[in-house]
Amino acid sequence: MTAQDALFGRLASWHGLSPWGRFLDAGTGDHSLQWILGLETSAWTAVTGAPDRAAGMRQRFARRIRPQDQIVAGNWSDPSFLEGQVFDVVLADYLIGALEGFAPYFQDKILPRLRPHVSQALYVVGLDPFPPRAKTDGGALIVEIARLRDACILMAGHQCYREYPMEWVSRHLEIAGFEVERQERMPILYGDRFIKGQLAVARRKLPYFKDKALAQSMGRHIDTLQARALEHLGRHGRIRFGADYTIKARPV
Ligand SMILES: C[S@@+](CC[C@H](N)C(=O)[O-])C[C@H]1O[C@@H](n2cnc3c(N)ncnc32)[C@H](O)[C@@H]1O
Repeated sequence: MTAQDALFGRLASWHGLSPWGRFLDAGTGDHSLQWILGLETSAWTAVTGAPDRAAGMRQRFARRIRPQDQIVAGNWSDPSFLEGQVFDVVLADYLIGALEGFAPYFQDKILPRLRPHVSQALYVVGLDPFPPRAKTDGGALIVEIARLRDACILMAGHQCYREYPMEWVSRHLEIAGFEVERQERMPILYGDRFIKGQLAVARRKLPYFKDKALAQSMGRHIDTLQARALEHLGRHGRIRFGADYTIKARPV
């Protein structure tokens, strides 16, 4: 079971036997849609800010999309987007962290923006931001990988994600007219999928660097860090560091 499955499993257990009804995935991707496809929904709408992601997902999930379901590209910063549509359950799965790339400075507005679309429950999944320094060698490697990934994204002229802590989200849920019913952190165990995946993101940014010598030297730095991190894993096993969190909120 992946960490993502465990987070969705927790949401399902919190939801219990209540019907899923009309479901909105407010920041969709393959993982969340895969989970939703296994639920007894009457209809679902999956939203992404990226038209190419929407097109790719429509192809990948073509056989499982019923006539009443849809994958739509749009932006929550557009006040007319999905206007008047109400869903029993709304999921914001790593949406708030990704907003920085699609609607920067909209983070304080996203929960009030979603509020009129929620009839029964809003579930939020997020990642607690990494601290600038870690207390363990393994944690320090995770922070170093995340910093290097973000440095490469910035040098490529692209936008990094910006994560928000669980307390920030709960506070803003209450301001937005929700009652927080449950919230819980889940510690993360990082393995080679994270190390290779995040450093692959960093590598993919190198062709966008203006200074080709800097890109080459960054490439070597990425290789060295990957080797160090994998060696650490080989010796000590997976790295326990930081936490994801889930929140269940109801409209008041
Ligand atoms: C990191 S992904 C979330 C993970 C995803 N649920 C999965 O299973 O992989 C973030 C999603 O939120 C969408 N998103 C971010 N900001 C948005 C905005 N302002 N309007 C609409 N969608 C947005 C992104 O386009 C993407 O589909």
